[in-house]
Amino acid sequence: MSALAKLPASDPRSREAATTLPVYGQLPFVPERATGCDIITTDGHRILDLYGGHAVAALGYGHQRLVKAISEQSTKLIFQSNAVALEVRARAAENLVRIAPDDLSRVFFVNSGAEANENALRMACIVTNRKKILAITQGFHGRTAAAGAVTWNSDKWYGFPQQPFDVDFIPRDDCDAAVKMIGQDIAAVIVEPVQGVAGAYDLSHEFLTTLRDSARRHGALLIADEVQSGMGRCGQFFAVQAHEVIPDILTSAKGLGGGIPCGAVLCNEDIAPHFGPGDLGTTFGGGPVAAAAINAVIDTIESENLLHNVRQREAQIREHCITGPVQKIQGMGLLLGLVCDRPAVEVRNALLQHDILTGTSADPNVLRILAPLVLESGHIDHLAHALESMAPNTY
Ligand SMILES: Cc1ncc(COP(=O)(O)O)c(C=O)c1O
Repeated sequence: MSALAKLPASDPRSREAATTLPVYGQLPFVPERATGCDIITTDGHRILDLYGGHAVAALGYGHQRLVKAISEQSTKLIFQSNAVALEVRARAAENLVRIAPDDLSRVFFVNSGAEANENALRMACIVTNRKKILAITQGFHGRTAAAGAVTWNSDKWYGFPQQPFDVDFIPRDDCDAAVKMIGQDIAAVIVEPVQGVAGAYDLSHEFLTTLRDSARRHGALLIADEVQSGMGRCGQFFAVQAHEVIPDILTSAKGLGGGIPCGAVLCNEDIAPHFGPGDLGTTFGGGPVAAAAINAVIDTIESENLLHNVRQREAQIREHCITGPVQKIQGMGLLLGLVCDRPAVEVRNALLQHDILTGTSADPNVLRILAPLVLESGHIDHLAHALESMAPNTY
C-alpha cells in the first residue's frame, strides 16, 4: 500500500493527489504556519527550514517588515497594471538599479524566473539580430520554451516540438571551449554564476571573466541568471558582484519578493533604446504588492546587515558541517552544496528525522542548503550535531 493510501481522505496530501497533476514529489509533512526559519507542521513538529521553499523565503517567515509592507499595500491599492505609473513601482525599480551591478540601470518587471529568462533571451536576439544562444552544461533556467531550451538535459521534459533558437552548451569551467565557441554568430551566453539546481556549483572566476571578455569581443550579450543566486543569497546582492563581472542583462526572481511571486530583468543603457511600447509586456509584472515586497526585501537586507550575516553563516557551515556524511562543501553564501558520501536523498531523509529540512539537487550526492538569509548561529549548531550523529560511510 502506498504511503498516500494510508492517509485519511481529509489530509491535504490525499486531496492534492486527487485534484492536481501528479508532477511533484511531495515531502512527508504538511506545514500549517511558519515563523523565522521554522515551519510548524499540522502534527505539531517544528522543522528548521534550510531550504526556504526553493530559495524563496529570503527573510524567513512572518518578517514584520515584509508582512506590513504587503498588507498595507494591498489595503491601499492591490493592483494596477503598467498602463499607469506607480510610486511603489518606481521605488522598486530605483532600489533594484541601486543594488545591481554598475551599468544595469533599466528594469523590466515580470512574475517568475522562467519568464525573466524568456524575456532576457528574446531581448538578446532582438538587440543582436542573431539566432544562436550558448548556455553552460548542467545549468537550469526554467521550464518555458526559451528557458527550457537553454537548460541542460531538458529533453526529458521539454515537450515542445522545436526550440525557438539554436543552442549549444559550453562545458562548465572550460575556458578554452568558451573562447572557441563564442563567435560573431552568438546572440548571448546565459550563465548562472553559481549553478543552483546542479548542486550549488560555483563556477570559477576565470570562467566567468572569460565568458564576459569573449562575449564583449564578439558583440554577444552576457546574461547572468541570478534567479537563485541573487538577492543577497551569495553574500553580495548578486553573485557576479563577487567576481566583478558586469553582465549586459541580469535576471532575478525567487527571493526578490520574499514569497510574493515576482521577477525582474535588468539591462544596461545600450540595450534600452532597442525597445519601445508594445515590444515587451506582461499583466502582473511590477504590480503594487509585488513592488512593495521587493522594497521591503531590499530595505531589510540593508537595514539588518543580512549580506554580512550570510557571509558569517557560510563560514560557520564550512567550519562545522564537514562531518558525518559530508565530505566537502561547494557554492557561495547560503547557496551551498554539501557533497555527501552517499545519496543526498538519504541524508535529506535522515535530517528530516531531526526536524531539519534541506534539499536535494540534480547531482545525486549533493544536498542543497538554501536557508533564509536571517539564519542564526544556533541553527547551524543544530545542523552540525545532526550531521555528526550520522556515521560516515566506511564502504
Ligand atoms: C537559476 C534559475 N533560473 C530560473 C529558474 C526558474 O524560476 P521559476 O521557477 O520562478 O520559473 C530557477 C528555478 O529553480 C533557477 O534556479
